[in-house]
Amino acid sequence: MKNILVIGGGAMGSAFTIPSLENKNNVTISEPYSKRFIKDLSSKKKFHSALKIKLPKQLRFRKFSRNLLKENFDLIVIALSLPGIDFIGKELKDLKVKTPILVLTKGLKFEKKKNKILTISDQLQKNYNLKNISVLKGPCLAKELARKNQTSVIIANKNIKIAKSIGRKISTKYYLTEYSKDVVGVEVCSAIKNIYSMIIGAGQSLNSSSNLFQKAILEMRYLNKYFKGKDETIFGLAGVGDLYVSAAGGRNSKMGGFLGKGFTFKTAKKRFMPKETVEGEELAKEIAPFILKKIDKKKIPLMINLLKTIKENKKFKIKV
Ligand SMILES: NC(=O)c1ccc[n+]([C@@H]2O[C@H](COP(=O)([O-])OP(=O)(O)OC[C@H]3O[C@@H](n4cnc5c(N)ncnc54)[C@H](O)[C@@H]3O)[C@@H](O)[C@H]2O)c1
Repeated sequence: MKNILVIGGGAMGSAFTIPSLENKNNVTISEPYSKRFIKDLSSKKKFHSALKIKLPKQLRFRKFSRNLLKENFDLIVIALSLPGIDFIGKELKDLKVKTPILVLTKGLKFEKKKNKILTISDQLQKNYNLKNISVLKGPCLAKELARKNQTSVIIANKNIKIAKSIGRKISTKYYLTEYSKDVVGVEVCSAIKNIYSMIIGAGQSLNSSSNLFQKAILEMRYLNKYFKGKDETIFGLAGVGDLYVSAAGGRNSKMGGFLGKGFTFKTAKKRFMPKETVEGEELAKEIAPFILKKIDKKKIPLMINLLKTIKENKKFKIKV
């Protein structure tokens, strides 16, 4: 029995506690940011308003504090969305925490000063001096995991033994874990699929979306290689696996659908998805300054088109 701390009580952090508890661990969840999730998790019923289920009674909720991070945990899981990474990096930086860290967050960061794109694990290591970081990615809709629908994910660490030892702590019959040494590839693929699922969603028929799907994979392959990820990762759970689930039924592809109908991003957001986070938009804004300047436009025409659509609030033109 291990002690696991999950930071982030949103949909994914909360869903993750279910297999972790079932694997006979002591699981504590803490929410540093959202009043809504603090209210859900601290209530007696533990009804999660995003997952629409009651979380297990054994799940402990603790108020977020630096002291909590210093307690004796065997694994710290970060399940915040991208804007929360700098926050948690700063909180953990000076504590000299040696506990293994597992990052569920998907995204990339543009370092303006160095003119470089960093993965999240790079960001935590280089900017906040954290050590022993693994990442877990792949096709996982939190609502499905929370209902124990079979889900396969991939844990990456250059030291595969660490990845496997984390897998043993959290996997169940319905939460299956694969392993990879290709941390960069797993992080790059799982981030850019948020943009490509928007592009695929822009196809207004299955035929045109399938065409975009195929072109998206070629562009993802190019970008993954550019950032020094391994080619095989594109064809794994963090690549085509996650692209499929996001294109078939996520907020990014829903937004893509509106872009494909000719709405600008701002109009579509305001009119149809005012309260929903579109992760592809956050990432597009983050990486656009680098991608538009540094990468050969002919190699990734769909990505360039989408970045301009969001950055310049232009109509999305599908050219395949
Ligand atoms: N690895 C996986 O299997 C997997 C699966 C699904 C989602 N995800 C990723 O997990 C992350 C969270 O997704 P979710 O569906 O739980 O989202 P959510 O919106 O339900 O929850 C977001 C979480 O981030 C926190 N947060 C948001 N802004 C913050 C800020 N500025 N500072 C600090 N904390 C902040 C919220 O309080 C909340 O805890 C995303 O990056 C998503 O891509 C990973």
